[in-house]
Amino acid sequence: MMVIDVLTLFPEMFKGPFEYSIIKKARDKGLVEINLVNIRDFSTDKHKKVDDYPYGGGPGMVLKPEPLFNAVEHLKGNKFIKQKTIFMTPQGKLLNQDIVRELSKLEHIIIVCGHYEGVDERVRQCIIDEEISIGDYVLTGGELPAMVLIDAVARMIPGVVGHKEGVYEESFITGLLEYPQYTRPRNFRGMEVPEVLLSGDHKKIREWRLKQALKRTYERRPDLLEDRKLRDEEVKILGTLKNEGRSARS
Ligand code: ADE
Repeated sequence: MMVIDVLTLFPEMFKGPFEYSIIKKARDKGLVEINLVNIRDFSTDKHKKVDDYPYGGGPGMVLKPEPLFNAVEHLKGNKFIKQKTIFMTPQGKLLNQDIVRELSKLEHIIIVCGHYEGVDERVRQCIIDEEISIGDYVLTGGELPAMVLIDAVARMIPGVVGHKEGVYEESFITGLLEYPQYTRPRNFRGMEVPEVLLSGDHKKIREWRLKQALKRTYERRPDLLEDRKLRDEEVKILGTLKNEGRSARS
């Protein structure tokens, strides 16, 4: 069971994404608990103030340290479990599947969503373990990035996504782009499903899929192949693909 606490000024924003489909099922099954915590509830100020003007001047507002310190200290609780406090920011480490896999092994994640011009630097120094960005673009707040992170992490928790799929993926296409999929009808507006998929020959189908996955990855994301330890079979297929490319051009 993983517990994810989200610290946000806009808990209502999270209503939709986690009440449907796979994440909803995972919550119902007790595989993941997602708690939405309003930062404002931890303000000690009589006006429930959570932000203030930046020292030194400049535009926008900065999230005050007190409510965030109070909230994280309150939520941390049992220090002996595997837990991490994460701040969503474009200045963070770029999210990828390796980071997602590591985070999915934790028992407790606290996610802090920033807004306005940012948060007081002392929050980042003292209570944040890791800063994560979901891409090199700027969003208006950390809520959408938090939803992306939670979705990616939750599907890696054993039992959340169908067991079969997970095993299949592990066996030969991890780290590659997916091979093309088809369903009925066999002929749609004159476009045929590749013959091999109808053959019932599982060895051939597996080979075809691996070749297609390698082809897609080679054409669209060659950087992924550079980071990958290629198996003999894959080196051979890639060689053929490169040759086919050459003869097609000549
Ligand atoms: N907050 C605003 N933009 C962001 C991004 N790209 N990643 C994470 N947090 C953000």
